[in-house]
Amino acid sequence: MHKVTGIALAAGVAFFSNAVFAEPVSVSSPDGSLKATLDSGADGLVYRVEKNGVPVIENSELGFVFRKAAPFGKGLKIAQTETTSFDDTWEQPWGERQFVRNHYNELKAVVKENGADGRAVTIVFRVYDDGLGFRYVGGDDAFGEAEIMDELTEFTFAEPATAWWIPSREHNRYEYIYQETPLADVTIAHTPITMRTKSGLYVSLHEAALLDYSGMSLLKKEGRTFEADLSPWADGAKVKLAGAFKTPWRTLQISDEATGLLDSSLILNLNEPNRLGDVSWVEPGKYVGIWWGMHLALNTWGSGPKHGATTEETKKYLDFASKYGFKGVLVEGWNEGWDGDWFNNWNLMNFTTPYPDFNFPELAEYARERGVRIIGHHETSGGVTNYENQLEDAFDLYEKMGVRQVKTGYVADAGEIAREEDGKVFQEWHDGQYMSRHHEKVLIEAAKRKISINSHEPIKDTGLRRTYPNWISREGARGMEYNAWGSPPNPPSHTAIIPFTRMLSGPMDFTPGIFDLLYEKEQPDNRVQTTLTKQLALYVVLYSPIQMAADLPHNYEARMDAFQFIRDVPTDWSESHALTGDIGKHATFARKERGGNDWYLGSVTNEEARTLTVSLDFLDEGKRYEAQIYRDGDDADWDTNPYSMVIEKKLVSASDTMKLKMAAGGGIAIRFKALAD
Ligand code: NOJ
Ligand code: CA
Repeated sequence: MHKVTGIALAAGVAFFSNAVFAEPVSVSSPDGSLKATLDSGADGLVYRVEKNGVPVIENSELGFVFRKAAPFGKGLKIAQTETTSFDDTWEQPWGERQFVRNHYNELKAVVKENGADGRAVTIVFRVYDDGLGFRYVGGDDAFGEAEIMDELTEFTFAEPATAWWIPSREHNRYEYIYQETPLADVTIAHTPITMRTKSGLYVSLHEAALLDYSGMSLLKKEGRTFEADLSPWADGAKVKLAGAFKTPWRTLQISDEATGLLDSSLILNLNEPNRLGDVSWVEPGKYVGIWWGMHLALNTWGSGPKHGATTEETKKYLDFASKYGFKGVLVEGWNEGWDGDWFNNWNLMNFTTPYPDFNFPELAEYARERGVRIIGHHETSGGVTNYENQLEDAFDLYEKMGVRQVKTGYVADAGEIAREEDGKVFQEWHDGQYMSRHHEKVLIEAAKRKISINSHEPIKDTGLRRTYPNWISREGARGMEYNAWGSPPNPPSHTAIIPFTRMLSGPMDFTPGIFDLLYEKEQPDNRVQTTLTKQLALYVVLYSPIQMAADLPHNYEARMDAFQFIRDVPTDWSESHALTGDIGKHATFARKERGGNDWYLGSVTNEEARTLTVSLDFLDEGKRYEAQIYRDGDDADWDTNPYSMVIEKKLVSASDTMKLKMAAGGGIAIRFKALAD
């Protein structure tokens, strides 16, 4: 299937060995609409990007600054270039779509310093119809053992834009409410950061394949010029190189339509193929768990009269899961270490000793008999050395107990990650190189035991699920938990923004499905700011191969009619299509179940009621479907009447259109059940 053609554009190195390339070198997307250009002039090395001849990124610097060596960026010449085309379709073991087309044109440019012993690196551009990525690649002799103190990569946006973003280098990682501001008002932002330019183009900036490198934030320099700002180590180095290296891809998804961003597979395509071989043991699916009770303060993680993770309580959840078809039961607070101020201490957690009231072997057997799996939990509270010291034993125990999925956590309210070395403690960023290495180590140890990882307070997603398909999901944004104790809780617009920002990076363990939206007794100051129907819609809108039904079991049993949608909705898809999108206002997806014929639709709106009209032409041609519609009642409103919901059925086919009527803070969820021919 691989079709790789190489056309050397500038093989004349031998003839022009000392000459600076007079002409800049360019590479265009397969359809010709996007073009990236690399230029090495007197001022240093720059690149620029245009779409349909109109600049998107103006001349922007490239290069590095080192602790000891001289900077790399000025006095460079393009010594050699090569362009190739690539068109291949690969299969995801699980995902929002089964087959992904990877179609791009690539430019590899060797850029070299003047002089006989000038250093050289290769800059690689991959240009797709829906965006592009570029990275620096160096051989062993490029910089050798070195410390990068700054990556000079710049992004000078050609036009003013409106940006949706969260601040970076703050204590609370990625857990902020998105701001909508002029691009020029962005100070320092995490990626993905998404914008709509003055002329109406949608652009999202992020990175792909963040391995053994530091995460990039976007730091304002001046006007519309931003630079890649890498998270530093405790000693100030941004990245420690030990010879050959590849930076992550710096990515720009670019589309005329907001939905174009939602349908893009650019980030995944820029990652390397699966390194784990057979991953049939990675199991997508839905789960419940001993979780929301702690967030509502009904239970505790630690020991005592309100301890959540008891043998008896876990059995109830295992019974509930097997009765209603859930594959997993997450158990938090089963291990010693939670007593006291666990979120301000990084060395309390013991990952192999259960609390006395949690009989792990008995529960493992109980789960096995019911065809349900216990989902493990490792809350590190940011103590990563403490965790790494126990890592192998901790996973061995889970393997023995039949656990196939572990939720990890890196809450570190005392600051950042604690790394211990020679009896001293160093604070590292959640998205620094140390943590990028740590997460890879965890994935590899877990994979040896056929365990998948769902990381909370993670490093951001950069598409590594392609390379490590056992990285099954993660948090990395404000999830449902903020509605329990967050101040303020997530506003109605939150889930109409994250599809265009956080979710472009990959799956999120948002933990939807709260049915008791008010919990007036437990947390009277907070509530979920959605309608009940919107909770259902989130299962389709916010993609994750694992989805939690996050509420307490009795709240589902009190609303069996709405619960039916959660029981039906799959988490693994053969196709996904964005049907509507307007950042911060609405997002609608249609997805087809993997290994089945049914389609599902989910749509969410912000605090405004709206009616969207969509064509059902995504449905399979010639088939008839029973649409099982869960919609907001005519009098529904997230604030005043959140539970009003209508469930109705209609016969439909691909030639129909449908009106999606949503209340303020509402949504709609539909199962299109394929009827026998
Ligand atoms: C934060 C996680 O996001 C949440 O899901 C978990 O319950 C707590 N940490 C405790 O580990
Ligand atoms: Ca969290």
